[in-house]
Amino acid sequence: MKPPKTVFACQECGAQSAKWLGRCPDCGAWNSMVEERPAPAIAMGGADLAKRYTLAGANGPQLYADIDTVVSERISTGIGEFDRVLGGGVVPGSLVLIGGEPGIGKSTLLLQAAAHFASAVGPVLYSSGEESEHQIKSRGERLGIEQAPLYILAETCLERILEEIARLRPAFIIVDSIQTVFSLRFQSAPGSIGQVREAATQLLFAAKGQNIPTFLVGHVTKDGSLAGPKALEHIVDTVLYFEGEKHHAHRIVRAVKNRFGAVSELGVFEMTGRGLRAVPNPSQLFLAERPANAPGSVVLCCVEGSRPMLVEIQALVSSSSYGNARRMASGIDQGRLSLLLAVLEKRAGVNLAADDVFVNVAGGISVDEPAADLAVVAAIASSVRNRPIAAGSAVFGEVGLAGEVRGTSHAGLRIREAAQMGFTRTIAPHGNYAAEDVPAGHDVVGVRTVLEALDLLMTW
Ligand code: TYD
Ligand code: MG
Repeated sequence: MKPPKTVFACQECGAQSAKWLGRCPDCGAWNSMVEERPAPAIAMGGADLAKRYTLAGANGPQLYADIDTVVSERISTGIGEFDRVLGGGVVPGSLVLIGGEPGIGKSTLLLQAAAHFASAVGPVLYSSGEESEHQIKSRGERLGIEQAPLYILAETCLERILEEIARLRPAFIIVDSIQTVFSLRFQSAPGSIGQVREAATQLLFAAKGQNIPTFLVGHVTKDGSLAGPKALEHIVDTVLYFEGEKHHAHRIVRAVKNRFGAVSELGVFEMTGRGLRAVPNPSQLFLAERPANAPGSVVLCCVEGSRPMLVEIQALVSSSSYGNARRMASGIDQGRLSLLLAVLEKRAGVNLAADDVFVNVAGGISVDEPAADLAVVAAIASSVRNRPIAAGSAVFGEVGLAGEVRGTSHAGLRIREAAQMGFTRTIAPHGNYAAEDVPAGHDVVGVRTVLEALDLLMTW
């Protein structure tokens, strides 16, 4: 008998090779090839096969014009902020991956959503490979979960989970976490790329074939990417990431891929003694501890997904010892900070060569849109000159290499949010401000260059 064929799969990118290699030829990762031996395929008849591997109910191709436009109604998770990141609720038959560091609140959020689903929609299967039924129950007790058809399955075998899905026909499936699930068809360890991909694919067929929304929990590695397979992100419809720091009570869930909604949509939560609570007004949360009249503090109107939010950008510039100046950015991109420092030096004459520069977005949130540039520049200039920014001012705008301030998207949203939060003036790119209707009692000042903006914001 021929020995079973083995393949070596890269645990980083999923590339396969017939023999072991020290370095993956595809992604270049060292020592990432692991042997994976598929168990002999289970013989399946044609009908079985078709049932298992079909995504839609239809037989063969359908004429485009004949396909009904189903406005698939969304199902609420019972948590407003969670619905928002999903694009307005759960789409039937969608596969959603939720990633995040251990202990950040993935299981808590999903258990809360599961409890709501069970009482509002129908039976829910919560399959956990990480915790026992008792542990889940004791968490549920903290969350105040009431009587509902919520089934807990402590199981890691994929075939068993699929069996239970077929038997129970739940309205909602949660698999916590995908890295603990293993298929009997593979001999590699749970969490290896072959296993994770197989588990996700089989659950995809279950979700699509039976139109059951399915949530998968995924672990992230130290560097913040989803553990192992990038392949997983291609299989699922929606990828959500949990962000936040252990030392802060608030958590942010961000959509990084969504076939049914806007990406970079945010949900803001607060971890309380009784689970995660939605924060409907994040601006208030992020500005709560802002020091009054402190140099180096600027309020930025940013937009995440479709939501405007005011956050505080803080900068501290102090003279550097030993001549090697440090630049540290937390919450904004380090490369962007270097670029803005260069612009500040060349175009505004602020010399920072002998200074350490620290920039932080207060509250542990990260802002990656270029509209944050002007606020970062203003915060640094304010700290260098040790002058506070004019009270009541909020800022947004992209900064170009010539020191010009460029227009951004969603200017109206930003301005209205600033006005709503009680700011009297918004410093906006000149290209933006004329087009927007300004709320009464609020001033919008359009600026063309960084220097113009700094003159308006502080005396220096
Ligand atoms: P958990 O959902 O288990 O995290 P994950 O599944 O992402 O690993 O979250 C656990 C953390 O949340 C833990 O540190 C305790 C805290 N927590 C609360 O503060 N309040 C609560 O009501 C619950 C259930 C957990
Ligand atoms: Mg967990």
